[in-house]
Amino acid sequence: MGEKIKKTINYNQGYYLPLVNLKGLVGSVTPYLSGDLKKGYYNYALEPISELGLFNLSNKRNIIFYVDGERLDLNGQTDKQLNESFEYEVDKLSQVITRNNEKIKMETTSFISINENVEIHLVRIVNTSKKIISLEAVTSVPMYSRSPENIHDHRHVTSLLNIVEVVENGIINKPTLTFDERGHKLNDVIYSVHSFCDKAKVSNYIPIIDEYISGGTMMYPKGLKSSKYNVGSIIKGYECMGAMRFENINLNPGEEVNYSIIIGVEDEIEKINNNINKYSNFENIKKELKNVKNFYKELNNYINFNVESEKRIDQLKWVTLQPILRRYLGNSYLPHHDYGHGGRGWRDLWQDLLSLIYSADKSVSESIYENFAGVRIDGSNATIIGEKVGEFKSDRNQIVRVWSDHGAWPLLTTKLYIDETGDLDILFKKQKYFEDGFTHYSKMKKPTSSDNNILMLNGKVYEGTILEHLLLQNLIGYFNIGEHGFTRLEDADWNDGLDMANKKGETIPFTMFYLENLRVLADILSKIDQSNIEIFESLSKLVNEEFNIFDYFNEVSSNKGLNKVNIDKNILSNKLKSLASKREETILQKAIINNQYYQSYVDNDGNFLDSEKTMSLTAQTMALMNNIPSKDFAIKVAEATRDKLFDNKIGGYRLNSDYKKILTNMGRAYGFAYGHKENGAVFCHMATMYTYGLYNYDLVNYGNEAVMTLLNQALKEESQVLAGVPEYYNNQGKGKYMFLTGTASWLIKLYREQIFGINMNYGELSFNPKLVKNDFINGVAEIETYIKNKKIKIKYINQKELDFGKYQISKIVICNKETNDRVFKEIGENVEVYLDEFN
Ligand code: G1P
Repeated sequence: MGEKIKKTINYNQGYYLPLVNLKGLVGSVTPYLSGDLKKGYYNYALEPISELGLFNLSNKRNIIFYVDGERLDLNGQTDKQLNESFEYEVDKLSQVITRNNEKIKMETTSFISINENVEIHLVRIVNTSKKIISLEAVTSVPMYSRSPENIHDHRHVTSLLNIVEVVENGIINKPTLTFDERGHKLNDVIYSVHSFCDKAKVSNYIPIIDEYISGGTMMYPKGLKSSKYNVGSIIKGYECMGAMRFENINLNPGEEVNYSIIIGVEDEIEKINNNINKYSNFENIKKELKNVKNFYKELNNYINFNVESEKRIDQLKWVTLQPILRRYLGNSYLPHHDYGHGGRGWRDLWQDLLSLIYSADKSVSESIYENFAGVRIDGSNATIIGEKVGEFKSDRNQIVRVWSDHGAWPLLTTKLYIDETGDLDILFKKQKYFEDGFTHYSKMKKPTSSDNNILMLNGKVYEGTILEHLLLQNLIGYFNIGEHGFTRLEDADWNDGLDMANKKGETIPFTMFYLENLRVLADILSKIDQSNIEIFESLSKLVNEEFNIFDYFNEVSSNKGLNKVNIDKNILSNKLKSLASKREETILQKAIINNQYYQSYVDNDGNFLDSEKTMSLTAQTMALMNNIPSKDFAIKVAEATRDKLFDNKIGGYRLNSDYKKILTNMGRAYGFAYGHKENGAVFCHMATMYTYGLYNYDLVNYGNEAVMTLLNQALKEESQVLAGVPEYYNNQGKGKYMFLTGTASWLIKLYREQIFGINMNYGELSFNPKLVKNDFINGVAEIETYIKNKKIKIKYINQKELDFGKYQISKIVICNKETNDRVFKEIGENVEVYLDEFN
């Protein structure tokens, strides 16, 4: 398998690669060595960049070379170099740039070490000419050394905090204080840039920017020969520069020389010294590179698809890495993702667990369990998520936003976990509730007696089962309806951009999700051994409609009705089903347009958003994913959606039609130009969930077209997607917001559950493949995946190369023995599933 990506770069397309380790160091690097590097939100070693920073090279990582007196930069920013093509190779997670000109070959390998907080660039220069060449080199890395907030806020004042020290082959900066939203604090983070050459010593140190520029510019500095500072110099109060000039050398034809740049962020000088002891040795750099590759290979080996073509297999190998990156980076820290303080939102927390479940990670049940500690007794949840699993924080500004979809996702994830493992016991584990004084679905506030954000009752931590938490979230989602009878939109739903309709807005898609969740809960109840379920009294009154949601909020806000009562599980299950049917009726009556597809939202004036001309994909997705339409109506929905939203030139299904207005009664999304982000782009996450819904109804032709169009768009040169899938494609089909997207987990779910039909139902495995003819390579399609903690290969054999709809399972062979079983409680061996025509 050739998982490496190799490209010839002729012009700057804005590619970037994340570089990450498990110690908190995060970087991004482009083929031109732009990008940035930081450890956590507050500690940027290199100046933070957004999208445009990808194209600004003059204050990034660089070595300025003079080859026989002609300037050639490591980052390729000179005029001449910008017109030369070069080779770009990307692996998990490292990059190699190879530039060739008439005199030299310049190869730069960049990566972050796994166990030390250093970013390393290994530079190999070979004299490819027939003559001796002279080489001058000046490493040049501006050391930002502070919080991103200081870019335009106290930028100068924070340079006064710097204490810069020149050390052997390095510049070290330890600012005295940090100035940011946390206030003014003593700083304990040390930033460093070191540089080595295997054939020359450092001759000049230029540790501050003023000295480096010396009357020139960042691009054309005039201080490259400054000899004002030496090892041992300490300079206080200036912008710091990691610039070091090496002695000039001559290279014979064929001879090579190596340079390195090592950028560090550590909290102890000993760590920096140890890192440098290790990586001043070029052999150790090469060893660590192998280490990094093996590390990611292992981490990314939890699921493998052998499907369709080498190209697809390789592409999916980057997709499977994406959820891992999202777990480390959340939605922040990459050039497009220039928002947030790091961390993840509630929805992403649950969605990212999907792929963790597939990787049979031992911590997954613990993580699911711990995450329920973020649920408030009013059914809402904490939105500030701490760094440790299960750590939730009160909103810094005490302004809480409520997303109406938040309550729906935990059940989807928990049910997947139960299906994969058969572990129903998790439902009966007791968990606490989050308490920060917010009540009434976070619309009211009371003084909180809790100083650790835990709901207390009579001096004791108040707990309920995970099942109780799930019932609570989904019943509130169900009963919290607006005047049309659909779940209130609140401050947005899955679409973060629908944030201006919190008075009268309603979300039909999530009404569907909640009603299906009640059916799922009813189904779960039918599977458990217990005949009675313990929940708190107010919740029991709510589900039995003995009082309405406002009575409920009033009661629980003063800690009333929290005594536990037992309900017969069959009575509860029937009640949940009848509530679901009731809401289905409302949808049938009010949310169908032209007998063809679903209405999506109610706006802040109380009017339905869509007319016969418009559509939102979210409503069609949630309908199909949540088994709302009949098969016949699902076909109509698929036809209408394709008609209204499909555009195969830009990646497939758009998120919505063009409303042609700034809908200030819906949200900021409709201030975005049409075809961008949450206003009608091909938003991959929703398009993939929609595809999942199509497969759910066996609408495989539509589904296959949708997923192929989405994945193929990423492979087109003009989409500018380096690897995997982006968050969205804009109206020119360009990918935006690379790597960190919930899409990836859903693509894995789609491939595993729908396309490969690995059906896990309360711990029991069956096969229901929906592979199309094109998915097979020489009649074989294979998935390697964990089934109940054992990694097995499942091989579908379709010797006659039949298409979906033309085959059925004719034979199942496990360990060379045919079995008549079609449902498996345990399976520890590789499986061959033969497909043949219907009898
Ligand atoms: C991003 C957010 C996700 C949100 C979506 C739509 O999508 O992470 O929580 O639901 O925008 O606003 P992503 O591409 O990361 O899945």
